Amino acid sequence: MKPFDVYPINPINIVKASGSTVWDAEGNAYLDLYGGHAVISIGHTHPHYVKRITDQLNRIGFYSNSVEIPIQRELARLLGEVSGKMDYDLFLCNSGAEANENALKLASFYNKRRKVIAFSKSFHGRTSLAVAATDNPNIVAPVNETENVIFLPFNDEKALQDAFGTYGDEISAVIIESIQGVGGIREASIPFLQLIRSLCNQYNAVFIADEVQCGYGRTGLFYAQDYSGVEADIYTMAKGMGNGFPIGAISISPKFKAVHGSLGTTFGGNHLACAAALAVLEVIRQDNLMENALQVGQYLIDELKKIDDIVEVRGRGLMIGIELPASLAHVKKDLLLKDRIFTGEAKPNVIRLLPALNITKQHADQFLSALQQQLKAVTVL
Ligand SMILES: Cc1ncc(COP(=O)(O)O)c(C=O)c1O
Repeated sequence: MKPFDVYPINPINIVKASGSTVWDAEGNAYLDLYGGHAVISIGHTHPHYVKRITDQLNRIGFYSNSVEIPIQRELARLLGEVSGKMDYDLFLCNSGAEANENALKLASFYNKRRKVIAFSKSFHGRTSLAVAATDNPNIVAPVNETENVIFLPFNDEKALQDAFGTYGDEISAVIIESIQGVGGIREASIPFLQLIRSLCNQYNAVFIADEVQCGYGRTGLFYAQDYSGVEADIYTMAKGMGNGFPIGAISISPKFKAVHGSLGTTFGGNHLACAAALAVLEVIRQDNLMENALQVGQYLIDELKKIDDIVEVRGRGLMIGIELPASLAHVKKDLLLKDRIFTGEAKPNVIRLLPALNITKQHADQFLSALQQQLKAVTVL
């Protein structure tokens, strides 16, 4: 047997990691500004994280949701505090797709409707309804195809108003990433988010904020969407939540009433996952990581905006998109292979920075000077 070959991979075997540095099997060090796709939120092998998980594992790692799991309550309390949503409830699962799947399902249970509004360039995951609400036909299998999802252009207020005018009482939910990740770091306008809120109120539809990538402190606010002042009915989260330990969740407004058996999962909310998630929130709070994300992120954005060869710099905090001209599309690979710096990408020419929230200004400077060197090397050629 061998792994099913679905991932295009870089020929690098990472064997060790600490903070924002990872080492390959030959002992080469790399700067990690990708965080394994926005997952490493408090840095690799953070001592508090390692200790909390180890201590938990030595007591009990897993038992199912058929018994009391007090650490779930502890996590819910702290998440409520840090996110500023004390009156919301927490449902725990295992991944981002599963979080969105559960959010869409809960919305449909709530208003007994079927239709979902999603937007161009959205990415919500690969499970059945999450992928149906994802704007990429290449990853939608025939069995996932459904007429229940209506795609509208991102930030198009008229199209949104028209869709509610046409489908009104059939619309169960609107799902949106306030800053699209896979879509290339594109931000929803505040009037657009306000319009979603008011139409959802008017038609009793559910506003779902997909915070799987943009959330969890990355932009300097706990939920990215907080920049708009618009509150969602359900927030979905995963990536940064466990710093690599698989965990996802939905934060649920008090207007939803829980019904036994309506949602459920075997692994979701197990002791070990909760210990990992608690360690992450404790570090975020104790070390002021949202403030750091804001400051170092703003520094990066300001410096990147001064570089002529860049077409556009987008994003907030440590969720940054650097759009390059097509002729410089190879720079991301050069940064990895020549400068040993991991970054992310969004097709076709956007470098995505999704580092740990505790990177330093020195890390930022290391990246900025490597990027400038690479751009200069190309210009000279
Ligand atoms: C915005 C968004 N939603 C959902 C997902 C799916 O998360 P997962 O891969 O954990 O299922 C992703 C993953 O990249 C994402 O970026």
